[in-house]
Amino acid sequence: MERLQLDYVDLYLIHTPFNPEHRLEQWRALVELKGQSKVRSIGVSNFNESHIEEIVAAGFPVPETNQIELHPWSQKPNLVSYLREEAILPIAYSSLIPLSTWRDVEGQDSAETDQMKADGRQEDSPFKLMAEKYGVTESQVLLRWALQKGYPVIPKSTNPQHLRQNIDLFGFTLDEEDMAAIATMDRGDGVAWAIGDPSKVA
Ligand SMILES: NC(=O)c1ccc[n+]([C@@H]2O[C@H](COP(=O)([O-])OP(=O)(O)OC[C@H]3O[C@@H](n4cnc5c(N)ncnc54)[C@H](OP(=O)(O)O)[C@@H]3O)[C@@H](O)[C@H]2O)c1
Repeated sequence: MERLQLDYVDLYLIHTPFNPEHRLEQWRALVELKGQSKVRSIGVSNFNESHIEEIVAAGFPVPETNQIELHPWSQKPNLVSYLREEAILPIAYSSLIPLSTWRDVEGQDSAETDQMKADGRQEDSPFKLMAEKYGVTESQVLLRWALQKGYPVIPKSTNPQHLRQNIDLFGFTLDEEDMAAIATMDRGDGVAWAIGDPSKVA
């Protein structure tokens, strides 16, 4: 916090469930930091139902949030409804994966398939058609979808025009027909990580 020049941190997360031997110790540390008011909210990322059940079974408070890969091609309906039941807020990362230009930079690996890249480039991709219909950009359609599902979004950009678009999400609403169409587009596990969806680890 000294290096951040802050008195407290708004939200502190465990990045992945990759360390089964120390997961509970990591969570205990976050609970203690919250108890000391050094952190306002604590959560996890890339945790699935069984990782969270482990925390519950150990008698700890449940995480307030779970940051997971969520976009039309990875909708994780079972995990999301479990999180809703437990009052854990899902936060969406990598919302923009269906864009043809997503991480179009050398050295940024992912498990995105060639089919996904080709689908993103289609002139008549559903997101391009929706963007035209609402007079917005494809990225705004993708981010607005997440907001309408109740997921906070954290898109990253170094381009000022993109940054402006990514916060300008409140002047339109995707209609029920488009939300229903997107609900049918789920392709399963996330692809942001080159190693595959991290929430799948035991
Ligand atoms: N918990 C996890 O495991 C995990 C995993 C991945 C990411 N994250 C978090 O999520 C944050 C965002 O990561 P991400 O995966 O969503 O982003 P990302 O893939 O790193 O970057 C988003 C990509 O979309 C582009 N972009 C952004 N806004 C755009 C727009 N309006 N139009 C067109 N292109 C646009 C960016 O390019 P430009 O810069 O050119 O706009 C960049 O290529 C990260 O900072 C990280 O903290 C967490």
